[in-house]
Amino acid sequence: MKPLVWALGACALTAAVALAKPAAPPAPAPSAGAIAAGQRAFVTVVTVLKSPRCVNCHPAGDRPLQGDDGHPHAQNISRRTVAAGVPCSTCHQTRNSEAVGVPGGPPGAPSWGLPPADMPMVFQGKTATEICEQMKDPARNHGKSLAQLLDHATSDPIVLWGWAPGGTRTLPPISHDQFAALFKTWVDGGGACP
Ligand code: HEC
Ligand code: HEC
Repeated sequence: MKPLVWALGACALTAAVALAKPAAPPAPAPSAGAIAAGQRAFVTVVTVLKSPRCVNCHPAGDRPLQGDDGHPHAQNISRRTVAAGVPCSTCHQTRNSEAVGVPGGPPGAPSWGLPPADMPMVFQGKTATEICEQMKDPARNHGKSLAQLLDHATSDPIVLWGWAPGGTRTLPPISHDQFAALFKTWVDGGGACP
């Protein structure tokens, strides 16, 4: 009997130690339903990413875009003008021009600028699938995890600016709360692409 009792005791001890110091559990694989919901949600997320307030800073080329028609930025502004010593902050403040008493002037938010040339995070002219693959690729998204992407979509000042853009600028097609909720549905689906 003794060895059996000892073995049971050792088992209980091992179990207790395991309970006291759990290893970080691997994230459970999302269910088929969660994956499908995430894929559907991302299609609506893309309607925001492609709306003028977002796509204007996520262009296919080196020039930011302006207006709802996405025309190239006036004054020939591009990544090259920044490299030549004219930062975006020459004109864009950390707040909209209206907040500093200049109606119709440059919009503003902290760290106003284009994504860098080597990680441009292009939304213009891309399909939902292409944007999805780019969005979750750490080699193209500044090394962000899905959770960090969700944090960016939920609370980055420039993203929030899209819903308070100043002047007569139009808003993205859904509210920021809806956008954040759909983005979370995509993340909960493991970032599966439509
Ligand atoms: C003023 C320019 C600007 C505007 C407007 C803008 N973005 Fe961005 N966006 C950036 C920059 C710069 C980065 C990359 C650097 C970073 O992480 O902030 C970025 C990156 C991102 C990323 C990926 C995270 C990453 O770090 O690569 C997402 C998602 C994103 N933007 C969403 C949006 C959405 C949604 C809108 C519209 C509501 C928007 N952006 C509008 C400049 C802009
Ligand atoms: C010489 C001043 C100046 C510089 C430098 C400048 N901008 Fe602008 N920008 C403006 C003005 C003025 C507007 C407002 C025009 C309008 O309402 O369409 C504007 C509008 C924009 C818009 C349009 C916002 C929207 O959704 O309608 C974006 C995006 C933008 N700028 C990005 C940039 C970026 C990125 C840089 C740096 C690479 C930059 N700008 C540098 C003056 C400037």
